[in-house]
Amino acid sequence: MSKKKATIVTYGCQMNVNETAKMKKLLEENGYEMTDDIHNSDAVFLNTCTVRSGAAGKIEGKLGNLKTIKNARGGNLIIGVTGCVAQEEKEELLKRAPYIDIIIGNQNIAQLPEIMEKILAGEIEHAVLTDKEDELPPRIDANFGDGITASVAINYGCNNFCTYCIVPYVRGRERSVPMEDIVNDVKKYIQKGYKDILLLGQNVNSYGNDFENNHEVNFAKLLDEICKIEGDYWLRYVSPHPKDLTMDVLEVAAKYPEKIARNLHLPVQSGSTNMLKAMNRKYTKEEYIALVDRVKAALPDISLTTDIIVGFPGETEEDFLETMDVIRHVKYENAYMFKYSIREGTPAATMEDQIPEDIKQSRLLRLIEAQNENAKEISLSYVGKTVKVLVEGVSHRNKERMTGRISENKVVIFEGDSSLKGTFVDVKIVTAKTWTLYGELV
Ligand code: 5AD
Ligand code: SF4
Repeated sequence: MSKKKATIVTYGCQMNVNETAKMKKLLEENGYEMTDDIHNSDAVFLNTCTVRSGAAGKIEGKLGNLKTIKNARGGNLIIGVTGCVAQEEKEELLKRAPYIDIIIGNQNIAQLPEIMEKILAGEIEHAVLTDKEDELPPRIDANFGDGITASVAINYGCNNFCTYCIVPYVRGRERSVPMEDIVNDVKKYIQKGYKDILLLGQNVNSYGNDFENNHEVNFAKLLDEICKIEGDYWLRYVSPHPKDLTMDVLEVAAKYPEKIARNLHLPVQSGSTNMLKAMNRKYTKEEYIALVDRVKAALPDISLTTDIIVGFPGETEEDFLETMDVIRHVKYENAYMFKYSIREGTPAATMEDQIPEDIKQSRLLRLIEAQNENAKEISLSYVGKTVKVLVEGVSHRNKERMTGRISENKVVIFEGDSSLKGTFVDVKIVTAKTWTLYGELV
């Protein structure tokens, strides 16, 4: 008998990518073969995101597809919903989509195999497991597929309650993973040959704040402990909150220039102090800029990236121009730019002065245009330099070429053969486009 097949479709952030890797491992251990083809699967899971309405909309569409496939097969398809939509909507989701078999929240993925067994045995019709919101999930192994990047969650949840954000309502209160467990995970992945270790948390630099009896342990200490692990690898982390980014973290980054990647993702959200206040970000425009200046002084070769929201309730043209001013001052290598999207249940959803869609759209386009100019200028500054590249694989566009990333997180394309995958090589940059560098092996 051929093996049963399963697909997981992943939406949203790196935490979901991490949780998908854990579910893959669990499914494989329970006899499933993983595939990307939903038409050829016995079970399909949507690992969902609810942070903006765009992601939520895509999931609605995909559920519709799955329903059609299930009906055409006379019900022979297990449909599972995991991730933040599952955690947020719980049983409610079944009312809209009764053809879903399994709803599993972020804290419950370890229970996936036992639930599958019960469903397959006909013991239960549906399973909704979304409890333990404020606990640390059990530690489970993961299969990251590409063999290059492994992520390790260091803390879960968020206590910040930015007024636009749904995350604190779905991922619960902040809780940190014991440092020993994190260090052991990182060691394990480095021994397995992973070269790029990504530490994950909604607010990585709140790491350890919840360890009541141990004030020695914080994010800087964690980075320092991890960097003591021997080997040729890069350590990255997403995301720090600007209000909590302390100098000791920058000092550790300066101490390990070969290990801690030269990229800092520092979400600004807005350049207007008024908007930042309404967003409950707890810093002003001036404080953010002063922080960036301190970062650049401590780590002159750092590349900065950010998240920005335009069209937050009450945002005036002047507020928006403050954001434009910040991106010109900071010169981000990359920015994830979003139109504000109402998330029911958050304070901003009911604020007055919601911004009309056409204004949000035009501000977004103006911002993207300005940011693209920055990105291009920074890309061009790499031309003529030789950079260390972690080779990720064959380029999708041109099979003769390889693609990789540099410590600053930029993509580099160069001619080379596939045996280089997973190694570090030196590449001299010859040309550059806005997002991509092109070079030759040295
Ligand atoms: N609308 C638009 N963008 C949002 N983000 C979070 N919530 C919203 C929202 N309601 C953005 C923020 C955050 C990123 C992950 O998503 O910029 O940093
Ligand atoms: Fe959301 Fe703010 Fe928490 Fe980030 S810090 S997850 S934006 S509430």
